[in-house]
Parts: sequence; C-alpha cells; structure tokens
Amino acid sequence: EFMEQSEIKVEVDATASSTQVSPQDISITLRPGSEASAIVAVKQLERYPVDLYCLVDVSASMQENLDHLKTVGVALSFRMAEHSSDLWLGFGSFVDKPVSPYINVHSSKIDNPCSDYEIRCRPAHGFHHVLSMTSNMSEFTRVIKRQRISGNMDTPEGGLDAMLQAAVCQRSVGWRPDAKRLLLLMTDQPSHLALDSRLAGIVTPHDGLCHLENNVYTGSTKMDHPSVGLLSDKLLENHMHSIFAVEKQQYQWYEELVRLLPGSYLGKLGFFQAPNLIELVVDAYKVQSTNLPCNLFSPDGPPLGV
Ligand SMILES: *[C@@H]1O[C@H](CO)[C@@H](O)[C@H](O)[C@H]1NC(C)=O
Repeated sequence: EFMEQSEIKVEVDATASSTQVSPQDISITLRPGSEASAIVAVKQLERYPVDLYCLVDVSASMQENLDHLKTVGVALSFRMAEHSSDLWLGFGSFVDKPVSPYINVHSSKIDNPCSDYEIRCRPAHGFHHVLSMTSNMSEFTRVIKRQRISGNMDTPEGGLDAMLQAAVCQRSVGWRPDAKRLLLLMTDQPSHLALDSRLAGIVTPHDGLCHLENNVYTGSTKMDHPSVGLLSDKLLENHMHSIFAVEKQQYQWYEELVRLLPGSYLGKLGFFQAPNLIELVVDAYKVQSTNLPCNLFSPDGPPLGV
C-alpha cells in the first residue's frame, strides 16, 4: 500500500507564443529509466529586425574614423535590407575614466584636453549615451556629424565600461525586445581591464548595473572597469552580440578578448572606412544568424547549431 506508481506526464503550455520556437514551455515528469517525448517546432526567421548600437572611442586619434562613420548609416541600411526587415541604429561615445592618471587634470586641460595642439576638443568621459535606437538614418548621420573628439593620457581606453552600460541600460538605449542586438565597438586601442582603476584609487568592483543620469554614465569614477566575466554575463543576459571593429595593430589583443566573450565577433579592418565597416556588420550578422541564440547557453562548448 506504500508503493507509489507515479505517472509519466508531459504538459505543454501553449499559451506563451513565439514565432521562432513553439511551444515555449514544456514540463515533463519522469521516473528513472522512463522516456517521454515532445515535439518542438523551430523556425528561424529569415529577416530579423536588427538593432545596431555603435559605441565609438572618441579619443583624439579617432577623428578620421569618426568622419568615416558619417557615411555609414544610410549605406548600411540599404545593404542590410537584403538580410533584415528593418535596421535601427543607436550611438554612444566613450573615452576613459575622467580621473588622473588617465587624463591630464591640469585646469587648462580638463575642459579642453587638446589645448596643446590648438584644437578645441571636449572633456574626456567614461560613457555618453547619445542617440537611442532609431530607424531614421538622417538623424543618425546628423548626430555623428555633431560629435567632437576628446583626449586623454594613457593608451588603453574604457571600452568595457561603456559596453556594459550600453548592454544593461535597456530603456535608455531603446533595444527592441524582438530584434537581433548587435553592439559594435570601434576603437584603435586596447581596453582597460578590471583592477586597472586601482591606479586612480578606484577599488570598488563594478556592480553590473546601469548608472546613467541624463545619458551620462555616473559610475565611471566610482567603480572599477567590469571584469571580462561580468561583461560576458551581462551580454548574454541581455541577448547581445558584440562586434569589435579594430585596426590591425590591435587584432591580437582583441582576439584574446573575443575568445572570452561568447557570441562576439572580431572584425579585422585595414581601415575604418565605410565599405569596410558595412561588410563587417553584414559578416557578423551572417555568422551570428547561423548560430541561433542556443549557442549563448553553452559558452564553453561549440555553438549548438539547430
Ligand atoms: C529624421 O531626422 C531628420 C533629421 O534629424 C528630421 O528632420 C526628420 O524629420 C526625421 N524624420 C522622421 C520621419 O522622423
């Protein structure tokens, strides 16, 4: 009378629907050694909506690259029309943590870090969110045209700090829930890593949260750069694919980084010119479309193609 004869049960919840995987929810009750089956239909959308956020290093050496970016928006949306039902673009800029020793804190340099070169440039900043996701390419071009470069002291820049904010500040950036999300980092230097900020006396580890006030990252001088592990978690959690557009001298550095960030893609650009950038985005899109998001959940193994 104490024997229990538990049943094998398969319950399918068809209420949550998705155009790509159905059903979305199945619960199975099994006993050791028993089997049950359920059918899952997977359909890959051919023409995903795509959100592309351009995160650009605006330190002084990037002036020319910023100029090239002006011509990218419209051309890219034409080119991507073959692959995507609609492309939205956003834009943000970064330099480095605005504290010594990463920037020159002499009073004549804080407001205009380029004063030695008789150029008027803007103060260094950790991350500024500039343009939320939009389908209006003329708006994108207008915003890029308004950007001015900045300057700082040391070679590496604060790219990882900026990437984390762009990934977690969902509402400000305006990532669409159903879009394939691409985060494009453009820089010509390596990035600072966690623990680097100790030089500036910043010892608090990054908390992985969004700290934007009026579109300015306020945690820059309070928290360290995120670790690669934390950044990787946040990119996965928010379904982001990152694309690194870097110049030749930095391939090696970013090759190492990309290996630690699942779903990321390294573009080897001879130059940051518009045709190269457009090909890079299209290539990254194609690579990532052949690996459905499932591969995100096996960061250590090979992509699980479906
Ligand atoms: C697109 O942006 C341009 C430039 O900012 C603006 O003049 C135009 O009204 C916008 N178009 C739409 C449909 O919002």
